[in-house]
Order: sequence, then C-alpha cells, then structure tokens
Amino acid sequence: MWLCGSYELGGQLSPPEALGAVASSVVPFTPKPLKTVLGTIVMPLLCESADAWSAFVISASIVALDLSTGKLRWAYQQVHHDIWDFDSPSPTVLIDAPVNGTMVRGIAQPSKTGYVYFLNRETGRPVFPIKETPVKQDSFQRTSKTQPIPTMAPFSKVRVDAQMAKALQASADSQRRGLKIIPSTIFNGFGVKGTTLDATAPSASGGDNWPPSSYDPQSHMYYVCAQNGSQAFQVATQKYRAGGTLTGAAVFAFTGFNNPGTLTAYDMTTGRIAWQRQFPDACYSGTVATAGNLVFVGRNRGQLEAYNGRTGARLLSFQLGAGVNTTVTPYSLNGKERIVVLAGGNALNGSAHGDSLWQLSLDGTMAQAAAGSSGRAIQHAGDSQRTRTSGNSTSTANVRGDATAGRSVFANNCASCHGALGTGGNGGPNLRNEPLARTVAGTIRQVTNGGGGMPAFGGQLTSQQIADVAAYVTTAITGGR
Ligand code: HEC
Repeated sequence: MWLCGSYELGGQLSPPEALGAVASSVVPFTPKPLKTVLGTIVMPLLCESADAWSAFVISASIVALDLSTGKLRWAYQQVHHDIWDFDSPSPTVLIDAPVNGTMVRGIAQPSKTGYVYFLNRETGRPVFPIKETPVKQDSFQRTSKTQPIPTMAPFSKVRVDAQMAKALQASADSQRRGLKIIPSTIFNGFGVKGTTLDATAPSASGGDNWPPSSYDPQSHMYYVCAQNGSQAFQVATQKYRAGGTLTGAAVFAFTGFNNPGTLTAYDMTTGRIAWQRQFPDACYSGTVATAGNLVFVGRNRGQLEAYNGRTGARLLSFQLGAGVNTTVTPYSLNGKERIVVLAGGNALNGSAHGDSLWQLSLDGTMAQAAAGSSGRAIQHAGDSQRTRTSGNSTSTANVRGDATAGRSVFANNCASCHGALGTGGNGGPNLRNEPLARTVAGTIRQVTNGGGGMPAFGGQLTSQQIADVAAYVTTAITGGR
C-alpha cells in the first residue's frame, strides 16, 4: 500500500483540518493484479476521499511495476483529482490486436467513468487517442482543469438523462426540502451550498464496477458489462465525531446499484462499438468470452445468458433461481465443454439470494429453476416457488411483524446501503431522517415497491419478512424519535 502524498511520483495531501479528512490511501482494488509477459505487474488503483483537496498522481490509475525490482515502469491516470468515486475496480485485461497494420501489445480496463482505457502495455500510452479536455471548474473542490476523455465511445451514459434526473430528484427530496437537481455531464463539480445540485453520470456504482471484462483474441472483440448510474453531491464542512462516518457530503443523491444495464462489444482493431444490448437491470456479472465465439453474462433476475460474440444475438437464457452476479468458468472434461457458475445474488443490486453452484453442458437434462428465491437465502434454486408479495398487495398489512426476526432481514438486505445501524452508508440515506421509515405502513410500501434508487423487494422477500423488517426499522432504528 502506498500512502497518498508520500509516493515517489509526488502528490500532496490536503490539509487534514480542511474538511476533517484524516488520511487517504492508494490500494489496488482488484483481487488479482495481472502479471504480464513483459515482467511487469499491472494493477488498477483507487484513492482519495471525495472531500480531500488533493492531486494524487497515481490514484484512479493503471500502474505497471517491474516484477523483479518493484520499480514503477509507468502509470496512467484515468481521472485527475477524483471527487466522484471513479476509482478503478475492474480487473485489467491483456489485449493483443492489430491496429493500423501493427500488432499492439495492449492492456484495457473499463472504468466507473463509462470509458475503456486501452493502453500500450509496454509504454502505458493510449492506443486510440485520449484527449485532455477542459471541464467545468469548481474552485472550492479545486477540480482538475482537464480530464482525459477517450475517443473510444463510452459504454455507459456520460450525461444525465430525464429518467436519471427524476430518480435523483426523488432521492434529494427524501434528504432535504427544496433542492433542485440540474442534469449535467461527467466530471462536473458539485455545489457547496445553495439549493441546486449538479448531477453527473455515471456514478460511484458505474459505468463498470468490479464486474470483469473479457477479450476474444481471435475476433479481437472486447466485452464490457455495465450500468447507467448517476449521482449528485453537495459538499459540506463536517466535524469528525468518534465512531461516526465522515463523508464530506451533506447531500448524496444516488440512483443506487441496480440501474439500466449495458452489454457492449468493442472491435479493438478500430476502437469502435460493434454492438450493444440494453437491459432493464444492471449488467452486474462481468463477461466471459469463449473460443467458440460465445459471451456469457449473468442477470440480476437469475438468468444465465449466452450471446453470439459477433452479432450480439441472444442464444441462451436459462433461469438459475437467484441473481447471477459473478462470471462463469468454462472448462472441458473428457473432451466435453462445460461451464460452472454460482447463482448467489448480490445485496447491492437487491437481486434474489441463493447459494447454488450450477454445472452446465450441452447435453444437460436438468430443468430451469423457479425465478426469484428468498432474499434471506432460505429457499434456493430448484425449490418450489413460494408465495410472493405483489407490488400493490394488501396482504402484508395483515401480517404481524416481529422486530427480532426483522433484525437479520435488515442485516442481509438493507445494511449494505443503509449501514449496519440504519444511519446511512453506501448510498442509502439515514433512515432516522426518512419520513416513510417512521411508520410500519410507509416502510412496507418502500420495501415492497422500492424507488428513488432503492430496489423493490416485493418479489424477493416474503410478506412475513417485509413485515418483520418494518417492525425492526420502526422500533430499533426510528422508534421513539
Ligand atoms: C441498493 C441500496 C438500498 C438497499 C439494499 C435498501 N435501500 Fe432503502 N433506500 C435506498 C435509497 C437510495 C433510498 C432513498 C429513496 C428515495 O430517495 O426515494 C432508500 C430509502 C428507504 C426508506 C425511506 C423512504 C422515504 O422516502 O422515506 C426506507 C424506509 C428504506 N429505504 C428501507 C429499506 C429497507 C428496510 C431495506 C431492506 C429491506 C432497504 N431500504 C434496502 C437504498 C437502498
């Protein structure tokens, strides 16, 4: 781990007293840095808290180190002074492709910014131009004058559309009265005071997040799984209280982790998008390309899907019963092609939970599972389908909630966004400030239908579980306030 500000390339730490920032660090985000044939190790890095006044040279970067000495070979920064949480969680992928008649030994990474950074891995220089482009300035945040914008078209939206603006407005309204969301583009600064919030796309959830991308070295096609998130912050000077969370943001409007998704295929010989598919749910599994020209993708609603790598035509959609939020592993056994894949669900995406490991081959005989299993992982793929609460069902109102049982429903399904204590955390607001969280009926409605960046749990939790979690929220979190 390198401490920001102490690294050999130079960097400056913002005055700690400025906004209460204590320390930031640079850590590799991906599980597996990539060892390359050049004797270098390449890894994407993240850094910085959004409120730090800083200019770290290797945050939000791909860096290449000499394997034998650990010395820096090169570093490429994707975002200068990252105040948007555009770190680089997706693993880098080696890409050898002929570009203008020359074989490029490249490396690529899809980012939360919605762009692919395709670099020559020997030099760290962009294969297709990435232009330093002037961006709107925010003097309080000391934003970078320019940002590197790739000429390769983005795979996610980099401009807030009407649907995003509406969701962000609802999210802002739930936090403070009288705020107005102003739709804007990537790399806008955020307001400090006042009543308007400049919204940007993508968001801290991406673009691409940690779902890995994949490359077919025969067809030179590169496949990226992503989503169209958006967000708006308002920065605030805050005092640190021991045990508390210090975010530096007074308002954080966010469309959450399950935004409309994209599956994008790039032709890496030209850098152009060959095809793109749009999903209503986030593409949150990553992609796997096979030698047989297939691309495997998992869906939040439990389908394992295969696409024709050249055309994007869907060839397979097979229900596994819980969110398929991981990549498939292809292998061959006794000359037969197989894949294994985990249907486990994902708390951030609010997809159905499960714990089934599936092994599939072309001559498999097992039927598809029933869609959508329990968010509490008590019912699994292949089990008979239980009764579900429907969005406007009144049946929940007749179920008595048990706050003690609701505690674990909350820990499994809500804490990831609202924090362990319900006081806010990763994108979900402090429930103590939320009007609907004060009443059982309001909480049941919000949990069942979702909205404003929160996923609907109506199809995933039983009436009893929703009543239990509402009892827990209204007694343990907002009770007596
Ligand atoms: C993926 C993140 C995420 C998860 C998971 C999540 N929430 Fe939320 N929740 C949000 C966001 C974002 C909002 C703000 C919605 C808005 O602004 O309208 C919210 C709002 C709420 C509200 C208040 C609505 C209002 O307008 O007053 C309640 C109550 C609530 N959540 C309860 C829960 C419970 C209970 C769970 C678990 C079953 C849960 N949430 C899971 C993100 C999440």
